[in-house]
Amino acid sequence: KTIIKRMDRDNLNSEDFKEAVELLKEGQLVAFPTETVYGLGGDALDKTAARRIYEAKGRPSDNPLIVHIANIEALKELAVEVPEEAYRLADDFWPGPLTMILKKSDLVPLETTGGLDTVAIRMPSDEIARRLIKESGLYLAAPSANKSGRPSTTKAEHVIEDLDGCVSMIIDGGSSTIGLESTIVDLTGDNPVILRPGFITREMLNQCIGGTEYDKAVLKKEKSDPVVAKAPGMKYRHYAPKGQLTIYEGDTNQVIKAINEAAKQKTEEGFHVGILATEETKNLYSYGDVKSIGTRKNEETIAAHLFECLREFDTSNAAYIFSESFEDNYLGQAIMNRLLKAAGYQVVTID
Ligand code: TXA
Ligand code: MG
Repeated sequence: KTIIKRMDRDNLNSEDFKEAVELLKEGQLVAFPTETVYGLGGDALDKTAARRIYEAKGRPSDNPLIVHIANIEALKELAVEVPEEAYRLADDFWPGPLTMILKKSDLVPLETTGGLDTVAIRMPSDEIARRLIKESGLYLAAPSANKSGRPSTTKAEHVIEDLDGCVSMIIDGGSSTIGLESTIVDLTGDNPVILRPGFITREMLNQCIGGTEYDKAVLKKEKSDPVVAKAPGMKYRHYAPKGQLTIYEGDTNQVIKAINEAAKQKTEEGFHVGILATEETKNLYSYGDVKSIGTRKNEETIAAHLFECLREFDTSNAAYIFSESFEDNYLGQAIMNRLLKAAGYQVVTID
């Protein structure tokens, strides 16, 4: 049975918190909040714990896990041939929503890295995550705390939906502030390559180390684009709601008109329809279950609510979901990357 405990960042000396630390030390799994999304945590250097993570998530075991650390010395233990750029990035962005891919040391089992000779490392800023790492004295492998293929989790309620009964404990620390998974940058090649866009944008990375490129899979716009993702996890169907999601792009007024027509048609055919709108447009739709994801004046609000909205459409059993699109630069790059995957790259362009 899964223990579910609400925890307060200002009072982490509780018995509940100690129990979480003990469970991790025993090789058990504890889901915990981070500033990006919730993580499904286990001892990163314990092969059995790593196998348990894959099993709980229902995840293919060739999809490597991110190792979470709480101090910079961990880099030297977990990675070899660490380039100088890694330390500069750590200076600027750690603790925070940035993951670096480095050559792994012998300490890290292949079970954790999905058989790769590289390892993904992140130092989260969330106080609960940091204290779990520090007090357990472990490095915590933690993929996003969702069942494989489902939207990532940004609230304990989402984790309970997916993982109740599959993990020893779920720590409820409220909503994740960022709401999208960390930016992943690969530092093992000649140039730094972004494998997954996130809150730390390419522009921010370039101000620190320069020369950062996007992996081709990040810029993929259509299902037929024949690109192979370099982050193994990015090749799987991802973030998908149960209903069929279609993104509409083009002139705003035309997009609203087209979504209204599609929503009217599907509603009349008897389907439950969901519409992913914004504060600016939510009152302009006449059909379906309209959700405002955030305001276009502040992309951070959109990032924070994307996964939650997708999950809510599952709860309301939407068979068809129509979404507006967002500009794919800065944080929008990360938003559109997740939205396009959730839609299986189904986009209607209106010109
Ligand atoms: O924000 C986050 O990164 C969250 C929180 C919990 O920290 N974690 C997370 O983990 O998103 P996960 O497992 O859902 O996504 C990790 C991604 C996967 O796409 C995986 O393929 C990629 O990182 N990855 C991990 N190790 C890698 C490696 N050695 N080389 C390339 N990609 C790697
Ligand atoms: Mg994930």
